[in-house]
Amino acid sequence: MARLTLRNVVKKYGARQVIHGLDLDVADGEFLVLVGPSGCGKSTLLRMISGLEDITGGELLVDGAVANKMQPKQRNIAMVFQDFALYPHMTVRKNMAFALRMGGMSRKDRDAAVERAAEMLDLTNELERHPSELSGGQKQRVAMGRALVRDPAAFLFDEPLSNLDAKLRAQMRAEIKALHRRLGTTMIYVTHDQMEAMTMGERIVLMRQGVIEQAGTPLQLYDRPENVFVAGFIGAPGMNLIEGTVSGFGGALVLTTASGMNWPLPDHEGLSEGAEIVIGVRPESVVLSDEGTEATVAFTETTGSEIHATMTAGEDQLLLLSKERLPLERHAAVRVSFDPNHIHLFDKQTGKRIN
Ligand SMILES: Nc1ncnc2c1ncn2[C@@H]1O[C@H](COP(=O)(O)OP(=O)(O)OP(=O)(O)O)[C@@H](O)[C@H]1O
Ligand SMILES: [Mg+2]
Repeated sequence: MARLTLRNVVKKYGARQVIHGLDLDVADGEFLVLVGPSGCGKSTLLRMISGLEDITGGELLVDGAVANKMQPKQRNIAMVFQDFALYPHMTVRKNMAFALRMGGMSRKDRDAAVERAAEMLDLTNELERHPSELSGGQKQRVAMGRALVRDPAAFLFDEPLSNLDAKLRAQMRAEIKALHRRLGTTMIYVTHDQMEAMTMGERIVLMRQGVIEQAGTPLQLYDRPENVFVAGFIGAPGMNLIEGTVSGFGGALVLTTASGMNWPLPDHEGLSEGAEIVIGVRPESVVLSDEGTEATVAFTETTGSEIHATMTAGEDQLLLLSKERLPLERHAAVRVSFDPNHIHLFDKQTGKRIN
């Protein structure tokens, strides 16, 4: 088991800096999900923690001891990759035992460790088979087994499920969570899929371009995004983001967009007339309302349980999500609104949350 600490960690590839002074504490036994768009530095961060990549600046501490210069072996941190990276010519047993054999463990101890891991991962009947004879999920479990036999202090998963189909992915997610509960080992799980992050994470760290935008529980990120980026990234379908200027209207404040549409605003001390802001409205907060703002239905989609209606209001698009089967025809003129007390307010310049 291990506690991992990053202090002001920087990574440069040549002159190009890709991680910009990152601070992060992962508690002993924590399950942390690291999420962010492609290229934001997730794999780079994991590779620095595992020792596959040098740390350009700052410190990595494992259980309080500086580990920047430690060999990967000494760190005892196992990484599971997206592409499984199994040896095709070796059986499952040999794949799983490989690192132990390299480490000089006796045959007997190796077999015992492999069989223990195989049982945990439901691979006992697969031990003498080759990777080509396994399903995607089984291959993924072998990749996990290879990490598991080493009894590491921490596991790092780099998008381990992206090669699996949706159903298998859901099943493997549950298995990884169960494995965490059973072992209680520190785990960092990387994904670019916000849905996976939301459903798996006890704590989520959301990165963009080498910095942490927000860290917190899934619901903290969903309910109180600290900036426009987090607001747009977390939630599917995504939050509606509308830009405009705060203006007075009949004694209240409204948001007036560039195309002259008015949207209700909450009574908030941080708002003053003339301010340029962005409001964030979850699609499920948008409703049809006789007193609402004029809009046109652009198109609708249904998932069966929900209707997603994309509206045009002036130059803006607004998505409405309803569990009710609203009879919304394409091109229909409607009026839409939302409870201003359930919206998110951001400064347009800085993108930072106001309310
Ligand atoms: N070996 C390398 N040399 C130069 N630049 C690199 C190298 N590896 C990664 N980068 C750059 O560092 C940045 C972060 O890459 P990284 O692979 O960590 O992103 P990621 O968040 O894992 O993305 P993805 O979700 O696509 O896997 C990217 O801009 C990438 O181009
Ligand atoms: Mg990556």
